[in-house]
Amino acid sequence: MVEIVQGDITTLDVDAIVNAANPSLLGGGGVDGAIHRAAGPRLREYNKTLGGCPPGEARLSPGFDLPARHVISTVGPVWHAGDQGEAQVLENAYRNSLELALANGIRSIAFPAISTGVYGYPKEQAARIALRVMKEYEPKFDRIIAVLHSPEDYERYRRVLAEMDGG
Ligand code: APR
Repeated sequence: MVEIVQGDITTLDVDAIVNAANPSLLGGGGVDGAIHRAAGPRLREYNKTLGGCPPGEARLSPGFDLPARHVISTVGPVWHAGDQGEAQVLENAYRNSLELALANGIRSIAFPAISTGVYGYPKEQAARIALRVMKEYEPKFDRIIAVLHSPEDYERYRRVLAEMDGG
């Protein structure tokens, strides 16, 4: 089962937490800022060696000071009007994060709601894409967790997942 929890992704003791990063991978606001603060400055130093990340792709780093063993940084799409391939890029961000995790023996992974903050992706549409891809990969992991920061986002994910499960 895909788990849905409300809270701060930086507190999770899992093999990997996913960061909604920007293409520099060197930090920013939102969940990216929170992850860099909690991981400590070594994350930024490490990420300098990665040479950035295009939208829809993913990169692996150690977790440093986080309880999580790894950080998987991915870059979601900036929402324009939905006619510039945003949905495909968002799906790729989830899918490539999960494939990178599998390739590195990661068994438990937590995702924030990629692109739904600063990048402006409509939350309901993003939730459908996120949960569809997570459900597809769920048999290959011990735990896949969607972490929502606000109670409203948490309730939205619960409802969308229930609808997808036919409830
Ligand atoms: N834990 C879990 N979720 C969080 C946390 C946290 N500690 N902090 C924020 N969020 C949630 C937000 O509520 C939002 O729903 O993460 C979601 C994604 O929002 P953003 O962090 O703004 O990410 P995104 O929309 O993908 O924009 C990426 O923001 O600062 C940057 O460097 C980043 O430029 C990039 C952009």
